[in-house]
Amino acid sequence: MTANLDNRPTLLLGASGFFGPALLEAFGESGAVATHFSRAGAGSLHFDARSTPITDIVSRIPSRPAAAIILFGITRIDDCARNPSGTAEVNVRGVIRVIEELRTLEVMPVFASSDAVFDGSRALWSEDDETNPILEYGRQKLAVERYLSSLSPPWLVVRLPKLLAPGYNPRCMITAWAEALGREDRILCATDQYFTPVAAPDAAQAIAMLVRDRAQGLFHLGGPERLNRRALLGEVIDEYRRFAEPRADVVECSLRDIPVFEPRPLDTSLRSDRFASRFAYRFRAASAVARTAIQAFFTSGAAKG
Ligand SMILES: NC(=O)c1ccc[n+]([C@@H]2O[C@H](COP(=O)([O-])OP(=O)(O)OC[C@H]3O[C@@H](n4cnc5c(N)ncnc54)[C@H](OP(=O)(O)O)[C@@H]3O)[C@@H](O)[C@H]2O)c1
Repeated sequence: MTANLDNRPTLLLGASGFFGPALLEAFGESGAVATHFSRAGAGSLHFDARSTPITDIVSRIPSRPAAAIILFGITRIDDCARNPSGTAEVNVRGVIRVIEELRTLEVMPVFASSDAVFDGSRALWSEDDETNPILEYGRQKLAVERYLSSLSPPWLVVRLPKLLAPGYNPRCMITAWAEALGREDRILCATDQYFTPVAAPDAAQAIAMLVRDRAQGLFHLGGPERLNRRALLGEVIDEYRRFAEPRADVVECSLRDIPVFEPRPLDTSLRSDRFASRFAYRFRAASAVARTAIQAFFTSGAAKG
């Protein structure tokens, strides 16, 4: 299968979530076609991973896409843990069915995977390191990765870290912290959870570069700064203080003290040299993104009081 990517749109399957808007921006309105499941956007096509044939979607697009980015999924970690087989219907069987159909149509599949394929037992995981997910969500991501790696090219997997919004976005952890800081609240924050968050627009730009460059295989898209959750909150608080005095109390704890259904991996930081050695593009540091998001929080009028 050859993929001629010139002047052909990229299909964004599951673009109505947190990450989709950044990808729409990176590919440009005329360069992408978006789908949604329950939250329709302007010009977006309805798509259910459990039932909609890809041919139905492709037949509604003027020219056949060269690549499709598979973003859709049930992405809440504890939803996957509570209902492994129900979520696998979308996250594994749905994705694999879509990949098979895309390949029949000669559309290159690009799969959005996650740093949750690692067990978190040490720092800075590279593409060559052994995977060992301790989360059901991570096992589902790995099942799709393994399926893709059994296929002949072309296919692409990008492992994403925690994505941050540089602007006001109630679905982003930075905005959620900013909102909590303005209340008489308690913010429980782990000091032992490490990651390499990246700005969603930077990850989207990187994916657009990989697709346009006809890259194949597996790429980590971690940010340049490995830090723990408490340190990131520290950056948020420092920036917040330039605008207002925080009202909430921060309670430091271990990740093990946070009440969740399935214990999280401690260190999912990614080493992303493979991407960095191929492209000159550099991601912003997580602390700089967090500060920008706090500035947006105050200048967008989102801050109350
Ligand atoms: N955000 C992150 O920090 C992060 C980190 C690592 C990896 N990732 C991965 O990147 C991808 C995009 O993440 P995200 O944060 O944008 O996820 P998200 O906000 O949860 O969005 C999920 C998308 O999947 C769609 N969807 C849900 N059920 C569907 C179904 N049955 N059929 C078709 N579409 C369905 C949703 O549509 P509706 O909203 O219209 O219902 C939405 O467009 C995911 O695969 C995620 O695992 C994200």
